Amino acid sequence: MATPVLATQHVSEFAADVRESLTKPGQRELPSKYLYDEVGSALFEAICLLPEYGLTRADTRLLQEYSADIISRIPSPVRVAELGSGSGKKTRWILEALSRRQLTYYYPIEISPHALAACEKELAQIDLVSVVGYEQPYLEGLRSVAEGRGERDHVLVLFLGSTIGNFDRDAGDTFLREVRATLRPGDALLLGTDLEKAAELQLLAYDDPAGVTAAFNLNLLARINRELGGGFDLSCFRHEARWNYSDRRIEMHLRSTCRQSVRIPAASLRVVLDEDETIWTESSHKYKAQEIPEMAERTGFRCEAQWIDQEWPFAQNLLLAE
Ligand code: AVI
Repeated sequence: MATPVLATQHVSEFAADVRESLTKPGQRELPSKYLYDEVGSALFEAICLLPEYGLTRADTRLLQEYSADIISRIPSPVRVAELGSGSGKKTRWILEALSRRQLTYYYPIEISPHALAACEKELAQIDLVSVVGYEQPYLEGLRSVAEGRGERDHVLVLFLGSTIGNFDRDAGDTFLREVRATLRPGDALLLGTDLEKAAELQLLAYDDPAGVTAAFNLNLLARINRELGGGFDLSCFRHEARWNYSDRRIEMHLRSTCRQSVRIPAASLRVVLDEDETIWTESSHKYKAQEIPEMAERTGFRCEAQWIDQEWPFAQNLLLAE
């Protein structure tokens, strides 16, 4: 039977990653990709509605306003591949604009089956749009889409919501080069990037008074308890958001409020955390608008155009593969 084997592999990869990152010398860490189980994804959707988290609304506003302009710069026919589609709500604007000029194939690429199902449901009703989901890691899915296209088809890759900011800057460049390697000259990447703003605003966006982001962060420990039999007592940790001035990023940490020992049986691990020691769970890098064309040049693209939201500094950047 294939399913139990896959389930075991998934658990053991999670267990191995938890073990490796929690036992790193110096700063302990947990990989941010594990924030998004079913509960975490629902909490992230709630974060996107918070008045303090302007990022998603800015991203959506730009797409709503400029989709026609964006797609007018890409030759027909176009197939759209989205990396990490989430619920797919923002993508509607691009797909509606494209479907006015052609039958449009849309490929959401997403490792979360729940998010993929929600996205398919949200977008499959648009006339002249055919949705084919790929439950795969980003680059694998993108390779499948690029290899399956016809000779004349262009690919438009969507990487929205400033997810690029969750990569370290060098890793972000490496990732964009890998995306470029799957594309042909003339293909396009629409890249959403959150721009630097006043530190207090950025901190509030990641430490909201209602505690939704705190719950999102703490859920990572709860997930370890659920899936790996971990013994984290969540009341002994506090969510913390920091602005790292030199690296221009928000960091999320979980601060241990006492000295404590925690077992994680499925990872064959016991960790002893000091009082005030933190586990670093996520980075969200912020950008200056002029950095994006430079990033494009370094990674095999040219920045064709940039649209910036006036309410919440955020940029949509249309990069063309050279
Ligand atoms: C998905 N990503 C772009 C979000 C961000 O802003 O870095 C994740 C997030 N973390 C806390 N709040 C939102």
